[in-house]
Amino acid sequence: PDEIEALRATHISEYPDFPLPGVLFRDIIPLLRDAAAFRTVIRYWTSLLPDDIEYVVGTEARGFVVGAPLAYELGAGFVPVRKAGKLPGDPASLSYDLEYGSAVVQIPEGSLPAGARTLIVDDLLATGGTAAATLELTRRFDVEVVGVSFLLELEGLHGRERLPDVPLTRVWSLP
Ligand code: PRP
Ligand code: HPA
Repeated sequence: PDEIEALRATHISEYPDFPLPGVLFRDIIPLLRDAAAFRTVIRYWTSLLPDDIEYVVGTEARGFVVGAPLAYELGAGFVPVRKAGKLPGDPASLSYDLEYGSAVVQIPEGSLPAGARTLIVDDLLATGGTAAATLELTRRFDVEVVGVSFLLELEGLHGRERLPDVPLTRVWSLP
């Protein structure tokens, strides 16, 4: 855990006023491009998660980058939640607000069997709009959502208040 905490300081960079004035943007790319650090963090993150997860749901785009290796480590399937207009067939859709805009997300038709033990992941919890939308879409399949999990929680934006009824874990948090 000390090693993990040290990696937060060295592998997350901060950009004031991106993409809008007043937003302090946290960038995970330094973690992703360091092979050893990325592996260490994904394995530690896996150790925080419940057993017997059958599906990991991750939201485009950075939720794919962290969700796919987590699913692989857990022996779970990966289900992508995508921004509108990318999925074929008849995906379910939901519109939501985020820290700096709004978006529509979609989940592939037939992607989760009823009752499946499902974990929702993303790189970052800010206002919680993305995670709340992903949770609502996921629950349309009558799965068992065993948790939501993030690499980094920005506590000052109170995103967890929008996820009151589901266990929440995160690797790192910042005020
Ligand atoms: C970022 C981040 C989360 C979301 C968090 O994604 O990866 O998905 O915002 O913000 P929220 O808690 O306020 O909803 P973004 O929408 O910027 O898309 P990207 O992953 O494609 O860069
Ligand atoms: N960094 C990255 N993604 C984000 C942020 C941030 O600070 N806030 C909302 N999405």
